[in-house]
Amino acid sequence: MSSTDTKAAKLIRKCVIPAAGLGTRFLPATKAVPKEMLPIVDTPTLQYIVEEAVAAGIEDVVVINGRGKSAIEDHFDIGFELETTMRARGKTAEADKLRAIANLVRIVSVRQKEPLGLGHAVLCARSVIGNEPFGVLLGDDMIDSPEEPGIGQLARIYQQHQKAVIALMEVPDSETHLYGIAAGKDLGNGVIQIDHVVEKPKKGTAPSNLAVIGRYVLPPSIFPILEKQTTGVGGEIQLTDGLATLQKTEGLLGYKFQGQRYDAGDKVGYLKANIAYALKRPDLRGGLMEYLREVVKTEKP
Ligand code: UTP
Repeated sequence: MSSTDTKAAKLIRKCVIPAAGLGTRFLPATKAVPKEMLPIVDTPTLQYIVEEAVAAGIEDVVVINGRGKSAIEDHFDIGFELETTMRARGKTAEADKLRAIANLVRIVSVRQKEPLGLGHAVLCARSVIGNEPFGVLLGDDMIDSPEEPGIGQLARIYQQHQKAVIALMEVPDSETHLYGIAAGKDLGNGVIQIDHVVEKPKKGTAPSNLAVIGRYVLPPSIFPILEKQTTGVGGEIQLTDGLATLQKTEGLLGYKFQGQRYDAGDKVGYLKANIAYALKRPDLRGGLMEYLREVVKTEKP
């Protein structure tokens, strides 16, 4: 990535991380704890996502929260008592790591009083975002991309084309009914000029196998669209329906991002993310590999 691109990507200064869903697939763990606070190895999913935003040059993060609001706010705040106790016990390095979380970025938390859908969650950030383009990173979708952060890739495309852009990933035909699906003209270099986007199409009706993944860079004109948006699939105010309107009025791009994506809101996706991130850790890799080899050898399919 050139220095011009880095600077361009930095023009997206703010992002929204919706984390106010009910997390019903992870009950009972999510009865009192938001699913975005469940750990991948030893770090909450949400922290990885905030770190991705920071790596892309984002300066202000708006977390949309519902139940368990204090767990999110406390995690990104200074843990004075815990830090002081750790320092008194000589655990300086660990205390410094905790302080670094509090110093990561400016975070504003906004309450979504009822989980009316992802489109509604994004709309809740309107007054904090104001009149500028912004990123959206779903709080349970992880993109591991060491070269260039997922949201940074979209910010770069936004700056090049001055048009809303959403992350796309190819999925098998058998899974298209689980995602928002987009179709359109391939402009090359992973960029798609979208002409059709639909939320969770019925089996056999998907316009393509390009699934919408939880990263977006949007203009502020999405807000009045979401405000007028009626409920869609599942009785929720769907962001995808708002994007379909934006596509018709201003145009919409898709970008086949680089990197590995994990759906941490799904149990198998969550377990895969834990294994993948643990295998990257020198302190855990050896023991885990030994166990995985043993499991593969002894477990029946
Ligand atoms: P999901 O549909 O995956 O989250 O929304 P959910 O509804 O919590 O999950 P299940 O199906 O009940 O397990 C994607 C993201 O949007 C947020 C969620 O917190 C998640 O990060 N979201 C969803 C909101 O913030 N508000 C909503 O009203 C809906």
